Amino acid sequence: MSCSDPRMLSRGMFLYSNSPEYNIIRFMEQARNWLQSATSVVALTGAGISAESGIPTFRSPGGLWKQYKPEELATPQAFAKDPRLVWEWYDWRRTVIAKAEPNPGHRALAELERAKPNFTLITQNVDGLHERAGSRRILKLHGDIWRFKCSDCGRDWPDRRTPLPKLPPHCGCGAIARPGVVWFGEPLGEVWAEAEHAVRESEVLLVAGTSAVVYPAASLAPIAKSAGARVIEINPEETPLSGHVDISLRGPAGELLPQLVGHAPGLP
Ligand code: OAD
Repeated sequence: MSCSDPRMLSRGMFLYSNSPEYNIIRFMEQARNWLQSATSVVALTGAGISAESGIPTFRSPGGLWKQYKPEELATPQAFAKDPRLVWEWYDWRRTVIAKAEPNPGHRALAELERAKPNFTLITQNVDGLHERAGSRRILKLHGDIWRFKCSDCGRDWPDRRTPLPKLPPHCGCGAIARPGVVWFGEPLGEVWAEAEHAVRESEVLLVAGTSAVVYPAASLAPIAKSAGARVIEINPEETPLSGHVDISLRGPAGELLPQLVGHAPGLP
């Protein structure tokens, strides 16, 4: 049996062939079979899934953390020091996101949710594009840029205005409001337990568009794997996860997710 024989496509095994096209087709076929037969599926997404919608990622070339320092914009300390500066940055990001539309990758995951009795979408994104694409059961690990939270009384409310009329915005109680996102050094809250539970119960975990370097989100794939799930990664680049997943598909989520999810019996 040669290394490129489809019979080699068993769990945790890597295929090598002189033909990249041959491999991607075989890997895709195997990934589709796993997805098709699973009833319990989880998808974990990161900034890369929104890249094709025109929203900058954090760590790709030209990404936000190549231009800005996270410690000056995305920590409780930064907000305490200069809330206006932090809000200017979030107001700009809200304006960029408001102009963006969900792409075929977001829509494929919404379709997958409709096809599977037990589907959970876990996202690190705060942009709201998954909801706009039609996803319903979403665990937002890092919060939601379209919500505000009072820095004093803790009230939390939606706000979709762009640009904001006054920076920083305030709560009705008089205190400064903060973006409803999770900053570096902050706990994720109850959503983490739900996410961990979902991946432990999953038969297949799809990981799309994340560099897999930010914890605890990056630990979800190893948790799923040790609980017995098949893990499929979709990313144009290699990540620290790539060597530890069952199948790593190299390419943009907006192209690969529709191919993975579409035209298979039991899938939309
Ligand atoms: P990153 O910017 O770290 O990684 C984006 C990933 O998407 C990279 O691995 C890219 O190769 C990949 N990518 C780029 N274009 C893609 C495409 N079209 N399709 C699929 N993948 C593509 O973003 P995250 O992993 O989401 O947290 O970052 C995690 C967290 O770090 C964010 O939630 C944010 C950030 O700091 C906080 O702000 C707390």
